[in-house]
Order: sequence, then structure tokens, then C-alpha cells
Amino acid sequence: MPDYPFAFNVPLLGGRPTRYDVHTARTLSAMNGQYADQAAYAALLAQGDVVVYEVYEIKRPEVVGELLHGISIVHPGRVGDEYFMTKGHFHAELATAEVYYCLQGSGRLVLETPEGDWSVQELRPGGVVYVPPRWAHRSVNTGDGDLAMLYVYPAHAGHDYGTIERQGFRKLVVERGGRPSVVDNPRWSNGNSET
Ligand code: 6PG
Ligand code: NI
Repeated sequence: MPDYPFAFNVPLLGGRPTRYDVHTARTLSAMNGQYADQAAYAALLAQGDVVVYEVYEIKRPEVVGELLHGISIVHPGRVGDEYFMTKGHFHAELATAEVYYCLQGSGRLVLETPEGDWSVQELRPGGVVYVPPRWAHRSVNTGDGDLAMLYVYPAHAGHDYGTIERQGFRKLVVERGGRPSVVDNPRWSNGNSET
């Protein structure tokens, strides 16, 4: 039975795609330890375990040659002065890239390599960000509405969340004077003397 091409729609003004196999909803409690202001985090969580972001993905064989793709939607919000964001990850297969195409909203893609290089790219409708191999990535919603992106990456990439859970990203995106601002992560540590 050949593997037939298929098509589906993604509403340009955000919202879920017309076809997906896996829907993941990450709640605030799943982001434990990721936000700099732990007191603000605890206070917000006490008000309810809200959904911070959702992912709608099409299932494909996780083999070389296939591409995983879907829609990632980060809802608007803040924990203290830090915006709602995804967990962020390196690909388990480090030498695998990714493309993000922003459909709706405004935000930042925070990126870094194991060697310590970092980059923060703007996300706005129609904008494409190319994530080269070896760059961890986290999307941050700096707007008042949903941030929706189409993403595509090699199906054999896998995810390494542990490294980011342990050391965080070097840069955070926070609100300063009503505007998004990139600041150093005071809690960043790669576990050795370099902080
Ligand atoms: C991936 C993509 C993307 C990502 C979502 C949610 O490698 O699967 O980068 O689908 O998973 O944007 O972000 P987290 O995986 O960091 O929770
Ligand atoms: Ni990824």
C-alpha cells in the first residue's frame, strides 16, 4: 500500500489544523522550575493550572527521510514579568534542524547551542525562522493573543528536554516598560564552573 500524499488546512488566523493525530496541552504545572520568579509562579499556579501552550502534530514514522510537522500555539500570559513560553529543547539527534513559520501573534524564538552561542529571533505573521542543527529552541509569546506557528523537523530528531530543565536558557524574554526585553537568565548554569 503506497504512502499517499495528504493535505490539510491550517487557519491563518490561528486555531487548530483540520487534521492532526496528536494533541498535547502543556499546563503551568508542567513548567515547574522553568520560570525565574518562583514566587510569581506559585501564586499563579494557586489560581489554577492553566494551559500555557498546545501542540497539534501529524504522526509520521520517526525515521530518516520523514518530516514531523504541526502547529504550536502559545497562549498569552506572564509569570511575573516573564512571558508564557514553551519548555524548549535540544533535538536528541543534535544534528537536526527545524523551520518555524509564524501564522499569528507576536513573539520570540530563543535559541542556544551547547557551546554557549545564543540568538533571539522575532516571530510575527508571515515570518520564518530557520533553526540550524545543534540549536535548542523555545518559543515565547510577547503579545496579547495566541502565538501560532507551523513547524517542520526531521522525524528522527527526538527531543532532549533534560538539558534545558537542568540548566535553562541563557536568555529570558521579559516585559520591561511595556515592551519585550531580552535579559540574562540569572539561574542559568551548565553545571560546571562557568555560569
Ligand atoms: C519539535 C518542535 C515543536 C515543539 C513545540 C513545543 O521539535 O517538536 O520544536 O513541535 O515541540 O513547539 O515545544 P516543546 O517541545 O519545547 O514543549
Ligand atoms: Ni524542535
